[in-house]
Amino acid sequence: MKKILVIGAGGQIGTELVLLLESKFGKDAVWASDIKEECPKALKESNYTALNVLDNEKLSSIVKEKGITDIYLLAALLSATAEKDPKFAWKLNMDGLFNVLELAKEGHIKKVFWPSSIAVFGPTTPKTNTPQHTIMEPSTVYGISKQAGEQWCAWYHEKYGVDVRSIRYPGLISYSTLPGGGTTDYAVDIFYHAKHNGEYTSFVNEETTLPMMYMDDAVRATVELMEAPESKIKIRSSYNLGGISFTPEDLKEEIQKQIPSFKISYAPDFRQKIADSWPASINDESAQNDWGWKHEYDLKKLVSVMLENVDTKQMFDK
Ligand code: SER
Repeated sequence: MKKILVIGAGGQIGTELVLLLESKFGKDAVWASDIKEECPKALKESNYTALNVLDNEKLSSIVKEKGITDIYLLAALLSATAEKDPKFAWKLNMDGLFNVLELAKEGHIKKVFWPSSIAVFGPTTPKTNTPQHTIMEPSTVYGISKQAGEQWCAWYHEKYGVDVRSIRYPGLISYSTLPGGGTTDYAVDIFYHAKHNGEYTSFVNEETTLPMMYMDDAVRATVELMEAPESKIKIRSSYNLGGISFTPEDLKEEIQKQIPSFKISYAPDFRQKIADSWPASINDESAQNDWGWKHEYDLKKLVSVMLENVDTKQMFDK
């Protein structure tokens, strides 16, 4: 019987992924876990257990006790935070992955999902329509950890037959849980500010084009990849996923269709350099061809669902 453990379930992807997995496989089939003792509010109806992925003993005992078959490992430091704490970022992003890959190698679990990112690319990568296989010279701690992790996933698959699957997520946009520590987070923050007081100061400049995706598409892609027959998975490092590419100005114009007085100003900080090192658009033909990927949300739909649903209290009344 399928039993899923989501590690880092309290984060931006985790909360929505847990809910999707529960709706697909039933509540009894899913265990959410995060480092905090207390269960995140969004998952109050879910099975929850506190877990630090670096605590290998506890991870092993949860897997064995609950008969876990599939792990989605989402605990990580993102790009901006990782630059400030490089050693811990490396430890968390890599040791967590090793702990889970070893469990799979020893046959305790059947399948692993591990997220990679557009951060694996760097300034020397072709910027538009970035191919699946291309130059990868990441310039951030986060990108270095994701690129190394991808190669470890491919190695564990090649050497030990571990069924590990991965996606290079673009910037992810959602309203139920605030993101934390990413460079693409401006494209989430902007909606809270637009709704709160009609203005936003962006930490990346007006020309910054980045690939982005609405969370419903991202979690659907994740489960589709994990549920695809093994024979369809041709890439064991990580799949490119494209979504939609836009600048803060594009976003402003779309927001102004609903809030005409909305104003944006620019105060780029250290995250500009990170954004400048990443692709502007992604070629995801491999994901389309291998396991039938197709994204659904365009900019218009994304903006309207975000403006309708962001709860400004989440950001401003703490
Ligand atoms: N959204 C992530 C970040 O900005 C990229 O994977 O760090």
